Amino acid sequence: MGQKFYLETFGCQMNVVDSEQIAALLADLGFCAASSAEEADLIILNTCSIREKAERKVVGHLWRFKPLKEANPELVIAVGGCVAQQEGERLLQRLPHVDLVFGTHNIHRLPELLRRVRRQRERIAEVAFLDRETRLALFPERRSTGEVVRYVTVMQGCDNFCTYCVVPHVRGREISRPSGAVLAEVGRLVGSGVREVTLIGQNVNSYGGNTPGELSFAELLAAVHDIPALERVRFVTSHPKDISQRLIDCYATLPRLCRHIHLPLQSGSDRVLREMRRGYTAADYLDKVARLRSACPEIRFTSDIIVGFPGETEADFLDTLAVVQEVGYADIYTFLYSPRPGTQAPLRSDGLSPEVQQERFDRLLELQERIGPAIWRQDVGRTLPLLVEGESRQGGGQLFGRTTWGRIVNFAGGRELIGQVIPVTITASYRNSQLGEYWESNASVRCYGQG
Ligand code: 5AD
Ligand code: SF4
Repeated sequence: MGQKFYLETFGCQMNVVDSEQIAALLADLGFCAASSAEEADLIILNTCSIREKAERKVVGHLWRFKPLKEANPELVIAVGGCVAQQEGERLLQRLPHVDLVFGTHNIHRLPELLRRVRRQRERIAEVAFLDRETRLALFPERRSTGEVVRYVTVMQGCDNFCTYCVVPHVRGREISRPSGAVLAEVGRLVGSGVREVTLIGQNVNSYGGNTPGELSFAELLAAVHDIPALERVRFVTSHPKDISQRLIDCYATLPRLCRHIHLPLQSGSDRVLREMRRGYTAADYLDKVARLRSACPEIRFTSDIIVGFPGETEADFLDTLAVVQEVGYADIYTFLYSPRPGTQAPLRSDGLSPEVQQERFDRLLELQERIGPAIWRQDVGRTLPLLVEGESRQGGGQLFGRTTWGRIVNFAGGRELIGQVIPVTITASYRNSQLGEYWESNASVRCYGQG
């Protein structure tokens, strides 16, 4: 009987793509996917360490697998991703039932490492960082998953070293993938039925920056955009300091570029931004927002904001609220500051009390609650182009797709619509999704916005 693997993914888009690679390597070894950890011969957690809570969740999860290992000593338990990279050997010491720890640059070695674990019953932690050339040569060939939308990695790592952030420490230095390889990959994906790609990178719009002769991010985006039969392109995550005028112009000139940008603010206080080493002021940020709006009036913004950075005063926090109010984000992701190992910020002694952090966090959410839902409610009654992605999690034969702004819309329709851009009339707007109606006769209705 074939061996089964159980793979669970935490964290960001990078981990989603890495998990695809892990699953493909395991398929080559003859494994098939298990539907639960209980029936697996191999359990892999692909982990995230961006905040302490994320890391604690992973370790808690790993403890839950201990009884499975006791019941079946042949079971192999492996940990990959950012917690693996950060903790390495220490994870093996803390968790006696874990067999293998593999870091973010060592996914390609999984077959060999698993062989050693199984044949020699070794316990291994492999977390070496690789050099640029080796990493570039190791980009895996992407396979068709039958999905309509896919992520495409254009760069990896980060050189910014924001003082709160663990990413440069667990993902390594920034590398840009050759544009020819990116374009070839998107071409292949489109050939296998993909209709939308999201170009991903930790700092996606610094693409090409440290590679002489390479395209700029705006040029890469335009080249991807022009690939025939691609309906839509998105990108994430951009750094405000690297938003160029050429990238802003893309929103005016590229009709298939989705009208959304995720632009992490982190803080609206110039002093805190300086201490975070973000490389922009609130005024710089607002200027870019204004220029993006003038290039594309219907653009919607989303953001990440950290509350309670060490030394954040009430006045600093009010500056953040003011920027949130001025931009009018469709959504924000808010995080309580969490000290991370190896980063500079936690060395400071003026951390805030959890009560103050929580109180500010709640006020920020309250403000956003008055802004975001009103933006999404504007869609009710409009007919919008929707790229249909698949069957809805709501069940009941419903499908789901996304508008250009990225919000999920559930609606009733036949499976043959999957992969098509169709006009859907929005009938209700909820916290994280919208409800729509599709009539076939709608097909000729002129859609608002782009497809
Ligand atoms: N504490 C809290 N939030 C953090 N983020 C990154 N590092 C930390 C940290 N140490 C947030 C940032 C980033 C998002 C992915 O996670 O807002 O944009
Ligand atoms: Fe972390 Fe800053 Fe790099 Fe983003 S740009 S990954 S926040 S160091």
